Amino acid sequence: MDELLIRIPHHFKHEEKMLKEIRFPPIRAHCLSHSRLLERADKLAAQLRDRQTTSGTVLGFVVHDVVARHIVLEDREFFPWMQRHKADNGRAVPSRFRRKTP
Ligand SMILES: [Fe+2]
Repeated sequence: MDELLIRIPHHFKHEEKMLKEIRFPPIRAHCLSHSRLLERADKLAAQLRDRQTTSGTVLGFVVHDVVARHIVLEDREFFPWMQRHKADNGRAVPSRFRRKTP
């Protein structure tokens, strides 16, 4: 479970670097969203170590708050800027940020 929480800041740091590169206008709001999630992840990790919460609660946070609400919904807001950046610079968009076609 700790490994799952450790990967979140790594993902956000990498994403924020990319958001700067593509000059995503609402970057500050997006980074604030990351900060709030990281704050919650830190609290949950401490609570898990102190046995004040369960793995199920941590897993629920990761699946619901981080993946379903943030990555699936909020992260898609920067996809158009990634496409524009790609078109302007002729650079390929990293595969993990490409929109999947139905
Ligand atoms: Fe994000």
